[in-house]
Amino acid sequence: MTAAKAILDVRDLVKRFGGLVATDHANLQVREGELHALIGPNGAGKTTLIHQLSGALAPTGGRIVFDGADATDWPMHRRVHAGLVRSYQITSIFKRLSVLDNLALAIQSRSGGNMRFWRPARAERERYEAAAEVARRVGLAQRQDRLAGNLSHGEQRQLEVGMVLALRPRLMLLDEPMAGMGPDESGRMVELLLSLKGEITMLLVEHDMDAVFRLADRVSTLVFGKIIATGSPEDIRSNPDVRRAYLGDDEAGQFKDLGVPAARKAV
Ligand SMILES: Nc1ncnc2c1ncn2[C@@H]1O[C@H](COP(=O)(O)OP(=O)(O)O)[C@@H](O)[C@H]1O
Ligand SMILES: [Mg+2]
Repeated sequence: MTAAKAILDVRDLVKRFGGLVATDHANLQVREGELHALIGPNGAGKTTLIHQLSGALAPTGGRIVFDGADATDWPMHRRVHAGLVRSYQITSIFKRLSVLDNLALAIQSRSGGNMRFWRPARAERERYEAAAEVARRVGLAQRQDRLAGNLSHGEQRQLEVGMVLALRPRLMLLDEPMAGMGPDESGRMVELLLSLKGEITMLLVEHDMDAVFRLADRVSTLVFGKIIATGSPEDIRSNPDVRRAYLGDDEAGQFKDLGVPAARKAV
């Protein structure tokens, strides 16, 4: 029959900031199980779109349909409860707590009242077992007793992914998880996201095109608030509109330049 169903369906979404249209009738479908990358030049509106999906910003128009339900007006906590979770959304890292304590807190926030009937000691033990499992999942088993504030930058980002995983997301939103990382750290993050593929549906905003093309099942390109193309990495790589958006000229440059917006290029 048709392709996997869309867990997220963004329909004609509009966000205005005064006279600026940051999201301009954007349409985007994320299918269950896929890793969907969202790319676009600086200022294209990627973060603004993610904020509307997470509930941090209210759209001016259009709809956000999550798992068949109209989530456009849902408050953030309801989205998280339904499984639409962005990193930093609810739980940021507590730097003076251990990795395991951080994860156990995230797990506790997920379970809410569900464990009330258990004896507290047992509930706590189960939480810490689950926390250790998440720590292992994100490559922090050897660091689980460290204070989160003593982790490296890359390890803190891994922990943030763990905090989201602890909430059992149905769709994980990631806005430039590799930002500020060196090659080793971003390599580890790519491996982590690769290991989650198929298990967790992801919408990933990312600048690093090597990472995008390694990770993504499908790619959407946002330019001036509009999705101008959605397709396989190969389709996007050869799409003239996408190349023009990045390069200002569909004949200029190599595709590898695609990841680096002109304004940001090192001199
Ligand atoms: N809170 C805000 N108020 C006014 N303008 C904003 C706000 N947030 C973002 N913008 C503007 O919206 C546009 C899209 O920004 P953003 O979503 O951060 O782009 P990206 O993440 O793709 O770089 C930019 O022109 C930016 O200056
Ligand atoms: Mg951004």
